[in-house]
Amino acid sequence: MIVIEKQENSRRDVRIEIQRINEVVSFPPVVAEILQAMSDADVTMAKVTSIIESDPALTAKILRVANSPFYGLRRDVTNIAQALRMLGLDEIGHLLLTCQMKSRLMSLNSHQHIRLEQLWKHSVAVAAVSRLLATRFRIPTDGKEYTAGLLHDMGKLVLIQYFPEQYVSIESMITQESISDIDAEQRVISISHTEIGKQIGEKWRLPKEYLEVMQYHHRPSLSSNHSLLCGVVRCADLFCEQWGFGMGEQKEDFTFDNEAAGIILDAVPQMGKLPAETVNGELRAAFEQQFEHLQVLM
Ligand SMILES: [Fe+2]
Ligand SMILES: [Fe+2]
Repeated sequence: MIVIEKQENSRRDVRIEIQRINEVVSFPPVVAEILQAMSDADVTMAKVTSIIESDPALTAKILRVANSPFYGLRRDVTNIAQALRMLGLDEIGHLLLTCQMKSRLMSLNSHQHIRLEQLWKHSVAVAAVSRLLATRFRIPTDGKEYTAGLLHDMGKLVLIQYFPEQYVSIESMITQESISDIDAEQRVISISHTEIGKQIGEKWRLPKEYLEVMQYHHRPSLSSNHSLLCGVVRCADLFCEQWGFGMGEQKEDFTFDNEAAGIILDAVPQMGKLPAETVNGELRAAFEQQFEHLQVLM
């Protein structure tokens, strides 16, 4: 009884803390504007160009990435309008979101730099693998999988930044007791990164599909409208954990028996025609091919 009461109290405290934190970890306003603009079918190139060009440092970064060998463009890209024409709105939107979120994360005044960096690399890797997976098997996720991958673990940002001691205990509990990150978080701090992610996402006014991914990526079947998107991100999450870009979760072999893969197979049965190891191997090779480009974003 006392334990339950104590847990209830610490849970309440953490919630109050998180309410306060939401005000501190603000989402870069330009990112919110871009996400909004990208979900609007009538958005004009001129509008996106002007959002980007209002920030000279951002403009320089986008041009540098657009000129990297990854895109193999024959001509030098010298301005944002040209970058948009050559790479398309979606690609520029993703670059923009990635650059902005990276500078936001890295500007946090934190003694937790190594962990924040690990979280960032993990986010970019999951975003890239989600896209590779969706493209390879034509999974109908509407081009939302990259952004969803980038955002999925933002609840961990709060844990790392504001509950560093508890985060260390969570990490050691995962390895010592071989339990999931969610279980360890519940035991140490009585709230999971998925629940915190949902709260932060609501505060940031993110579109519903991203909120669901932040909340349900560990249990995609619980998502009411976006279980496929959650499933894609979760599979990418498991691959990244195996390939050395994880966040210290237990490593699991990728099999078609897991919940996330099951949801994808229901939507895209052709993925099941290949053995699970072949799916893993193909995606890993594609990820490694992109790696040089991804490092610029990491
Ligand atoms: Fe997670
Ligand atoms: Fe993750």
